[in-house]
Amino acid sequence: MVNVEKFVEKAIQEIKDQVGDGKAIIALSGGVDSSVCTVLAHRAIGDRLIPVFVDTGLMRAGEPERVREIFGNMNLRFIDARDEFFEALKGVTDPEEKRKVIGELFVRVFERVAEEVKADYLIQGTIYPDIIESQGGIKSHHNVGGFPTHYRFKGVIEPLRELYKDEVREVARYLGLPEEISERMPFPGPGLAVRVVGEVTPEKVEVVRKATQIVEEELRDTPKWQAFAALIGKATGVKGDIRVYGYVISVRAVESRDGMTADPLNLDYEKLRRIALRITGEIPEVVRVVYDITPKPPATIEYE
Ligand code: XMP
Repeated sequence: MVNVEKFVEKAIQEIKDQVGDGKAIIALSGGVDSSVCTVLAHRAIGDRLIPVFVDTGLMRAGEPERVREIFGNMNLRFIDARDEFFEALKGVTDPEEKRKVIGELFVRVFERVAEEVKADYLIQGTIYPDIIESQGGIKSHHNVGGFPTHYRFKGVIEPLRELYKDEVREVARYLGLPEEISERMPFPGPGLAVRVVGEVTPEKVEVVRKATQIVEEELRDTPKWQAFAALIGKATGVKGDIRVYGYVISVRAVESRDGMTADPLNLDYEKLRRIALRITGEIPEVVRVVYDITPKPPATIEYE
């Protein structure tokens, strides 16, 4: 990027000009794009920006709490929608159906807040690659041109529409956002739900959340695109001399340039052993840990 300082100044001015003395709303996920937009918009219009964080119950360990801490000085709406999401996901096993259920419920929860606060503008963290992908017809991007809501906004503002991801990270650093946000690994919109194969339950999500935390801790200093855990099924194991039927956790750690293709990391065997011992030792419901050595293609990075 040519000049971060200039970009920030211009973006703030643009938001001020567009919103005027109205109100704007943004779906804040804690990802780098929505976080940067939130800080820019807050600097532009202060408390007339309403950042909305929806706790779907599908986030990683500590994420909702960190969002509350980092953005707590703003007019933040923190919506606990965990029960609603788990209820909606009951009995859903098809991966596409799962994504659809989560996406639609998210929009419904978000538009409830938009209506309640009578928001005039929608601010979105759409970045340049999102626009290119949707224009080229590669995939329709939920991020482009506004959510498919019933709520009528006066307009949609996309301050990051000309930036690439690494430029957004640069702006995040410049704005003083913590490293856990500026350098955050990609995390899918549907969250941990796409890391539970089959039906999503609170118990399975809790297991995968704990396992992910262990994988992230153990691979903190390993260069990578993504590293996480997925719950892929059940199998027999032995715990304390009795045979138990417990969960199987798959560890996924890949390098990639853009997420379109990926290669598993050639991890040290002792490191893998330690991860397996920690996961089975610290999470009683898990009896088996495997390491996924499949590149993309043919496998995707996520499991669903
Ligand atoms: P796959 O699993 O398709 O993932 O190989 C490629 C990259 O995209 C991320 N991903 C998502 N990101 N919403 C997102 O914002 C989604 O629904 C989604 N699904 C996958 C994934 O984490 C990987 O980096």
